[in-house]
Amino acid sequence: MTASTATPPRTTDDDWWRSAVVYQVYVRSFADSDGDGTGDLQGIRQRLPYLRDLGVDALWLTPFYTSPMIDGGYDVADYRDVDPMFGTLADFDAMITDAHALGLRIIVDLVPNHTSSAHRWFTAALDAGPGSPERARYLFAHGRGAHGELPPNDWESIFGGPAWTRVPDGEWYLHLFDPSQPDLNWRHPEVRAEFENVLRFWLDRGVDGFRIDVAHGMIKAEGLPDVGFSTVTTGQRQVELLGKGRLPYFDQDEVHDIYRAWRPILDSYPGGRMAVAEAWAETPQRLARYIGPDELHQAFSFDFLDATWSADSFRKVIDTALAESTVVGAPTTWVLSNHDKQRHVTRYGDGAEGLRRARAASLLMLALPGCAYLYQGEELGLPEVLDLPDELRQDPAFLRTGESRDGCRVPIPWSGELAPYGFGPAGSELSWLPAPATWSALSVTAQTGVPGSTLELYRAALRIRHEHPALAVDAGGVTWLESGPGVLAFSRTAGATVLTCVVNLSGAPVPLDGYGEPLVASEALTGQGSGHLLPVDAAAWLERR
Ligand code: GLC
Ligand code: MG
Repeated sequence: MTASTATPPRTTDDDWWRSAVVYQVYVRSFADSDGDGTGDLQGIRQRLPYLRDLGVDALWLTPFYTSPMIDGGYDVADYRDVDPMFGTLADFDAMITDAHALGLRIIVDLVPNHTSSAHRWFTAALDAGPGSPERARYLFAHGRGAHGELPPNDWESIFGGPAWTRVPDGEWYLHLFDPSQPDLNWRHPEVRAEFENVLRFWLDRGVDGFRIDVAHGMIKAEGLPDVGFSTVTTGQRQVELLGKGRLPYFDQDEVHDIYRAWRPILDSYPGGRMAVAEAWAETPQRLARYIGPDELHQAFSFDFLDATWSADSFRKVIDTALAESTVVGAPTTWVLSNHDKQRHVTRYGDGAEGLRRARAASLLMLALPGCAYLYQGEELGLPEVLDLPDELRQDPAFLRTGESRDGCRVPIPWSGELAPYGFGPAGSELSWLPAPATWSALSVTAQTGVPGSTLELYRAALRIRHEHPALAVDAGGVTWLESGPGVLAFSRTAGATVLTCVVNLSGAPVPLDGYGEPLVASEALTGQGSGHLLPVDAAAWLERR
């Protein structure tokens, strides 16, 4: 035995998020109730029993608010309403009522860094002109150059190109993302008050938590100083989605004041309302500053998602994340896939090898202490769709950078032989992004009840995670065991019961002697009795009492 982390505190119901498994629903692509080719809230409602049976604790819904949908709904025009393409507020209420009745909690996405350019505040700002109070809610500025013809500074958009767009009267406005996503001025009291009220609006409707979009972005350094280099002159990207650069528009200390104001609002509601930060920070230490008893509850560990397929890489990020979680007293928040990143099957090599590794990595993640976020379709082993026709791609980053996140946003295959595989009712429109011809074998129906399918693997792992005392929130932390090169082995204990997770990232089968009885494995084990062997690119959980 080598290192061990402290035992996390015992959970209460208010602490549900400490060990929850949260399933990310990309609303547009999950389930289509009305056959228009677009997922919607009634579609989610109809599929809630599937999610309950899968064994998740909560859903995180990507934005379903009124939006021109230029950035998939991360361009919000009305924070208090549902876009007609997704349904109505009454549909939301019905969905959350049913979810709660099934024991599923609901986390919604909050997008505070920017609004849509179709938001009434921004149209008012354009109409009101330079120097107006309406413009003060956003970041308008004069340009550089003799006639103000150059952007106010050298900041670049995450989606490529300058982060500034000039309006007809000559002023420029800041947009760290698409020009249709103007950044708000978070030093303006009306902006702060508005979002506190938006939080209350959804808390009053019963949501259990918020995923905070670009949680590190709201405060920009005073004076809007230059970064000092641009992609155009150096060829090196100034900023990337989920990047780690130290930049004057990200991770400014003052942003924490916002969360210190939000936390008492969350705490004033019963039932453990929580918030998880999508924050990109330079170091795990700076990331940890977003979480704690007076700020947010969780922050995604994107280092885990970024780890390469090697024992050293995983070991390093796990140790660092666990160490930070003990310092701040908040659980670690693991994630392998989301709507912005290539699916982990494909990141680990695609094809059969990528799928084996993805299944193993998921078992690894689900054995760790803390909360785990799943992205819809990973329980089916979906790969990234790499061959979408360019003309169907919708990601605003695609035109500017050639990179597109559409390949992980293809609608879920539910059943049947032909696309869209039961995504909508019989006779529906084709889905907004087409599913590959090969996906019938990956559908929920095709995998249900099939031993060894990815869906049954997730179901088994989630059931054990719920029931096993050594995986409970009050069980022991991670104790690393001696293991050969390329092998990760750790145990967690509850009383005399020891659960060991072994992941084989080496090139040869690994003996599982002495770890006890196998509970679940990502590939069939070979050998018999105490002579089990863990195949290459596989993981297993074993139990000793
Ligand atoms: C977050 C979202 C991403 C979106 C961006 C701008 O990174 O996850 O999908 O494009 O914010 O809101
Ligand atoms: Mg629909």
